[in-house]
Amino acid sequence: MSKQALWSGRFAGGMAESTLDYTSSLDTDSAMVFFDVMGSLAHVRMLKKCRIIPDEDADKIIEGLKTIVSEIEDGSFEFDYTLEDVHTCVEYRLTDLIGPAGGKLHTGRSRNDQVATDFRMYLREAVLDTVSAIDNLVDTFIKVAQDHGETILPGFTHMQHAQPVTVAQHYLAYAFKLGRDADRFLDAYERMNKCPLGAAALAGTTYPIDRKMTAEALGFTSPTENSMDSVSDRDFVTELAFCASQTAVHLSSLAEELVYWSSQEFAFIEMDDKYTTGSSIMPQKKNPDIAELVRGRTGAVIGTLVNMLVMTKGLPLTYNRDLQEDKKPLMESLESLTQSLTIMAPVISTMTINKARMRECVENGFINATDLADYLVIKDVPFREAHGIVGEAVRYCIDNDKKLEELSVEEFKKFSERIGDDVYDYISIERCVERRNSIGGTSPASTDEQMLIAISELMAREDIVRQENGLAERCWNALLE
Ligand code: ARG
Repeated sequence: MSKQALWSGRFAGGMAESTLDYTSSLDTDSAMVFFDVMGSLAHVRMLKKCRIIPDEDADKIIEGLKTIVSEIEDGSFEFDYTLEDVHTCVEYRLTDLIGPAGGKLHTGRSRNDQVATDFRMYLREAVLDTVSAIDNLVDTFIKVAQDHGETILPGFTHMQHAQPVTVAQHYLAYAFKLGRDADRFLDAYERMNKCPLGAAALAGTTYPIDRKMTAEALGFTSPTENSMDSVSDRDFVTELAFCASQTAVHLSSLAEELVYWSSQEFAFIEMDDKYTTGSSIMPQKKNPDIAELVRGRTGAVIGTLVNMLVMTKGLPLTYNRDLQEDKKPLMESLESLTQSLTIMAPVISTMTINKARMRECVENGFINATDLADYLVIKDVPFREAHGIVGEAVRYCIDNDKKLEELSVEEFKKFSERIGDDVYDYISIERCVERRNSIGGTSPASTDEQMLIAISELMAREDIVRQENGLAERCWNALLE
């Protein structure tokens, strides 16, 4: 015999098994069970303090909930799949443990505000884990940058040789992109960190509840402002889906680059054996499967964003059951993203950077052509004119199979009288890099500055994550006292 739903009074019979199967969210929301109990602990302590239920019932409920917490912790808590969701499971278990007093827990709340509260608490932790995984990768990029301040490779635009840059500059670019991703997650965290509990079904409640007390007990910055908004709103889910998508897109372009950088044609890097895979037929193969999977898993994360936008775009106020569908995709996206971030760190830190090959490639493609134009500018040639002169020199080199630095002074003079002996030093690759000294440029002095900024931003985020993790832990401990 299956147990009855919490709302069964109005119905003549139980629901069909197929209705339960189709509507149940237990498979997904069981992941929030700990937060569900925590929310209930905060709620019952508030009901007690506000004298909404008698002390002795409240105390029984608290003891029952604590037993449930230990059952969850030791793995003995049983999810009853004849019940429709995690909230129902916890309430039934409570009543099993303490009898009818368990039925007083739901005074002044609804599953609508409960689920919104649980999910925010679940996501707070998931976001902090994601930010830590991002920052671990940012830290990895900073370390590569520290080791390669003077390793030069071609910088590309349109996938064509453009100007020489350093490996430090290249990987710091990723450090800043991912740093912004982490910042975005923390911004969303702050906006999400308000407590919907007490909004009840949609209109608030007639009981003299203290929403500030429950919000504070659960580590939120304040109660949400409007009860109807509280139970209908899922923009925090959509926003996090965007944060995840943007991070996944950044990771995906990094992954794409690792794939072709490790090809025989590029050979800029070689991945460590530990982080590559082989072929069942071609014995020579060493494949960048991790990078390919990181790239391949991006689609599902972006899918979650589209899913959320479409799911909510036609919803009237307030709660609609459609909203139940928000959890699984975001939970899975954050988990998959965090796994990708986590595996990328050792892929990057253990790969070999092939300096000689990079250097060889820098020599080709007239990568110092801009610098030759800059040289002419110093000799008082207007930049536009200098650009034309160098263009002609490049064409001459192509026709004669030469590099710019291989031209003799006499040959140079055919293009401009102003070019002298000092040109060779000026257009040497090292000098090209060193001179890009502007803020954010590729010179070692500039990348050192960038590194300091990246490190201080990273440390500031680590402080926030530490603080927030500590706060949550303190809340849990106080509630369990
Ligand atoms: N399982 C539901 C969800 O995730 C809980 C809220 C149910 N509320 C309701 N009115 N049926 O959204």
